Amino acid sequence: MQVRKAVIPAAGLGTRFLPITKAVPKELLPIIDRPMLQYVVEEAAEAGVEEIIVVTSRGKESIASYFQPRPELEDRLAGSGASDLLESIQYVSSLAHVSFVIQEEPLGLGHAVLTASDAVGDEPFVVILPDDVVDHRPGVISQMLDVASKFQGGVIAVEQVPWETIHNYGVVDAEERDTRTHFIKQLVEKPAREDAPSNLSIVGRYILPAEIFDCLERTPPGAKGEIQLTDGIQLLLEQHDVYAYEFLGTRYDGGTPMGLLRASLEFGMAREDTGDEIRALIRELANDLSDD
Ligand code: G1P
Repeated sequence: MQVRKAVIPAAGLGTRFLPITKAVPKELLPIIDRPMLQYVVEEAAEAGVEEIIVVTSRGKESIASYFQPRPELEDRLAGSGASDLLESIQYVSSLAHVSFVIQEEPLGLGHAVLTASDAVGDEPFVVILPDDVVDHRPGVISQMLDVASKFQGGVIAVEQVPWETIHNYGVVDAEERDTRTHFIKQLVEKPAREDAPSNLSIVGRYILPAEIFDCLERTPPGAKGEIQLTDGIQLLLEQHDVYAYEFLGTRYDGGTPMGLLRASLEFGMAREDTGDEIRALIRELANDLSDD
């Protein structure tokens, strides 16, 4: 199965990262030296996505600048022989065609996805939440496309989480059909622990048919008084099969300062250019702690 378009909701206020998000969009906060957003754009491009539609809000224009070419900077880097850096900035603009739609009001994730309906049109597409950064090759979207082809349905990424954290997530009630793959019977957004049908929590990757837009038009406000994507998918189940897929890879919660710090350390350890220094730093800090 081939999916050409991805929607990346990036309109939130980033309150967990205030005060920095007063001036810098959360999605541009770095894991080492690249914005969180770049990791998910790379994951989409790797899966064959050609067009990225970022749903953003006013005041977050720097997201667009990040994906635009900077000819004067390129000339300077070329002139000073910094070919690695030159390549790194050209690479960002070459990943995919990136366009933007504005969500005028913060009415929820389902509403943000609905805002992109004209840009997506009448074809299946991917939704990627940039806070959920997952380290794996092949990426989660590539893995999910295989499941979508095999089962001919929509696919949502899920992972098992401790029951005491389940109220933070969308949760699926599903029947196992294959290794790591479950047929979804029902979904609930942010249930209380006692109401949660399982501990399979939704992670921010969805492959959806265009019919989701009609469902989102009919979705009333739900958890937190917002139009929830989870509730829209619940309506979609009446006409379309959707599967939950337990992906391969580690998910980092880039939506919180500690999650982003952990991602920076682990991604940094895995990188050739920073791995040794970061391991040495962690050892030094661990020694300092054990001396206390
Ligand atoms: C959103 C979704 C939720 C999902 C979560 C994953 O919630 O609504 O279903 O489990 O992302 O990160 P949020 O984190 O925006 O509250």
